[in-house]
Amino acid sequence: THRCLHLCLHMLKLKELHILLSAAFTVTPLCCPSRSSILTGQYPHNHGVRNNSVSGNCSSIQWQKDPETEAFPVYLSKLKYQTFYAGKYLNQYGKKDGEGVSHVPPGWDHWHALVGNSQYYNYTLSVDGKEEVHGDSYEKDYLTDLIANRSLNFLENRSPQHPFFLMLSPPAPHSPWTAAPQYQKEFSNVKAPRDGSFDKPGKDKHWLLRQPVNPMPSSSLDYLDNAYRKRWQTLLSVDDMVEMLVKKLESIKELDNTYIFYTSDNGYHTGQFSLPIDKRQLYEFDIRVPLMVRGPGIKPKQTLQAPVLNIDLAPTIMDISGVDLSTVNVDGQSFLSQMAPSLRNGTVRPFFLVEYTGEGHPTTDPACPKLGPGLSQCFPDCVCEDAFNNTYACVRTLDGKTDLQYCEFADTESFVEVYNLTSDPHQLENVLKKTDPAILQAMNQRLIKLQSCEGDSCRDVK
Ligand SMILES: *[C@@H]1O[C@H](CO)[C@@H](O)[C@H](O)[C@H]1NC(C)=O
Ligand SMILES: *[C@@H]1O[C@H](CO)[C@@H](O)[C@H](O)[C@H]1NC(C)=O
Ligand SMILES: *[C@@H]1O[C@H](CO)[C@@H](O)[C@H](O)[C@H]1NC(C)=O
Ligand SMILES: *[C@@H]1O[C@H](CO)[C@@H](O)[C@H](O)[C@H]1NC(C)=O
Ligand SMILES: *[C@@H]1O[C@H](CO)[C@@H](O)[C@H](O)[C@H]1NC(C)=O
Ligand SMILES: *[C@@H]1O[C@H](CO)[C@@H](O)[C@H](O)[C@H]1NC(C)=O
Ligand SMILES: *[C@@H]1O[C@H](CO)[C@@H](O)[C@H](O)[C@H]1NC(C)=O
Repeated sequence: THRCLHLCLHMLKLKELHILLSAAFTVTPLCCPSRSSILTGQYPHNHGVRNNSVSGNCSSIQWQKDPETEAFPVYLSKLKYQTFYAGKYLNQYGKKDGEGVSHVPPGWDHWHALVGNSQYYNYTLSVDGKEEVHGDSYEKDYLTDLIANRSLNFLENRSPQHPFFLMLSPPAPHSPWTAAPQYQKEFSNVKAPRDGSFDKPGKDKHWLLRQPVNPMPSSSLDYLDNAYRKRWQTLLSVDDMVEMLVKKLESIKELDNTYIFYTSDNGYHTGQFSLPIDKRQLYEFDIRVPLMVRGPGIKPKQTLQAPVLNIDLAPTIMDISGVDLSTVNVDGQSFLSQMAPSLRNGTVRPFFLVEYTGEGHPTTDPACPKLGPGLSQCFPDCVCEDAFNNTYACVRTLDGKTDLQYCEFADTESFVEVYNLTSDPHQLENVLKKTDPAILQAMNQRLIKLQSCEGDSCRDVK
């Protein structure tokens, strides 16, 4: 995720042929809703997946009946692409409700999907609809390596007559952060960076940001440094995976004929505004994701400043494969024109939406009896990272001249946060009271339009 950026660069340095999309965002910083957006090219208010529970549509029957049948692999499959998926899919995938592991989403020819949320060992896969149970032998079961191995097999056995698409989704660097045995001693001196908003008090921010202990106790610091280090360790196996895949593509003479996208479903914070570890916030550290691409027509070693969203991945992939985008129901837009102007014309969108529905528990966390119900992710030290009322929507203007973020909360304070990222890249100062009311009104109007947009109206907001 965002903070691993220099490690990720190491991964693609193999060939030195990549473009860095430096302003890539998720439209919602949580696994299941974000992954649903990647698959459909839609904002959460259109695909209906709001949180990581079945009741919030994560891999629910409603999801399987409708949005999933229009996800991008379906279109690739119609164009005779050979499609392959391996790794974590949606957090509730394969669970007993619904069809369980026998459900293979349409469009995928080769399916090796993790049941449930992130694991490295002791997990179950659905392999083309059949249950496959794994233990904890490094050689047989380590999930990142297994994903790599199976993708190489797929490439080996594919039919050269038809194009192919692979989606590799290692849980790494998600918790439980179990590194491969040979990497468990790496980065022993690495600590989370103490820069930007690290351990700064969240004053003038929504109530959830006003509750952490500031400065953070050493127990929180130790916890987050350990998490940071272990996350890097798990990424070394992802690094190996990328290397194996690139070498394989080279050996089958497909490397120069293949697009490779490297990204994540959300960002992550370790200590920013004294929040120990998590995502789910509207700030840069949680909504920005790494995105690097290489492939035909893309000039290497460029950095693209234009904003690109996770809902743009599906239309970009479909655009590359030759799908007529006027026939698909997406809110995003292809960014092939930005990466490869010799192949496509296209304009950048100046405004976009980030929307998030807070998760909570109806009862008090027994580990934190002083806190009331409605909260979640209250660890370490009973600092909560989410709540039902951490529900917000933001509009961002990012057009080369202006970089402004305007957010409204659905809480009892109807809290509003405004950041001028040109002068304040770390979002230290909420400038609501200093901003021209005409600008605030325009942002509010744009936000209302975007929250109910669909298709073209998500791209053409004035
Ligand atoms: C779940 O999806 C269905 C169908 O798309 C939608 O009607 C419903 O409102 C969604 N549920 C939530 C909690 O958003
Ligand atoms: C896997 O499960 C076995 C049996 O329950 C347990 O002994 C082992 O510690 C688990 N391994 C990991 C890495 O969690
Ligand atoms: C992956 O393949 C390598 C090379 O054949 C092998 O050494 C390793 O044990 C495999 N790992 C898994 C998890 O399949
Ligand atoms: C872009 O648009 C111009 C002007 O309409 C046209 O001449 C050119 O061929 C287009 N390029 C591509 C790659 O579509
Ligand atoms: C997920 O969303 C559903 C529907 O709004 C809600 O009932 C449920 O409590 C949410 N789950 C969590 C953990 O917040
Ligand atoms: C948000 O919800 C929590 C838990 O229910 C409550 O303690 C807090 O006062 C609420 N804050 C706002 C601003 O709504
Ligand atoms: C944001 O900050 C920049 C640089 O200080 C300034 O030029 C610009 O006017 C500010 N924008 C707003 C909307 O206040």
